[in-house]
Amino acid sequence: MIDLKQTIAKHGRPMTVAVLSALMLSACGGGETTTSQTVERLPVSHEEIMVSLVNLAADPYWAATWNNPQTDRDWRELERATFQIQVGGTLLTVPGTGSMDAEHAGNPRWRALATQLSEDGARALNAVKARNTELMVRAGGQLIQTCETCHREFNPGMSTLEQMSRSQQLPAVSL
Ligand code: HEC
Repeated sequence: MIDLKQTIAKHGRPMTVAVLSALMLSACGGGETTTSQTVERLPVSHEEIMVSLVNLAADPYWAATWNNPQTDRDWRELERATFQIQVGGTLLTVPGTGSMDAEHAGNPRWRALATQLSEDGARALNAVKARNTELMVRAGGQLIQTCETCHREFNPGMSTLEQMSRSQQLPAVSL
């Protein structure tokens, strides 16, 4: 127990009610009433992560595997893009705001594919850092397999990425 009189004496003047009640709460073990639980839910949906992070980063990476980066700026941009894929994969293991997100995040198969996506991103990042286009092509092939496998298993009605890219203009590699 905290000795209130002693505490007041130490501080030399009466404490405010708020400080006193905080002291009393902790003295009675009431500290547990304060919320210390971390709520792990992203403020966005998995679909938003897919479209505005993962897909946006993967497109210029793939384009770079058949149209070599020209400038140091291109390479640095690709480093950031592949890093975003790595982080994006990890984010997909945390529930977001989409209706299926929590269920997916709790599904071992989904988690394995999301983790694979993150590892593919890390491998692509290493290839970019090494400025090694051959390794980039290999990492890019593994990456597209991971995307398509997950889409087939968890969103079967979806077009393949190849079908999607045929219907849209590829982004320029040089920025
Ligand atoms: C862990 C599973 C998983 C992985 C890995 C994955 N996706 Fe997805 N993706 C989904 C699901 C599920 C949807 C449908 C989202 C929804 O509608 O809520 C989706 C949707 C998308 C969409 C939006 C399609 C539309 O019509 O709105 C794009 C684009 C996309 N993914 C690109 C990619 C790319 C590129 C990769 C790989 C670099 C990838 N995804 C990897 C599960 C995955």
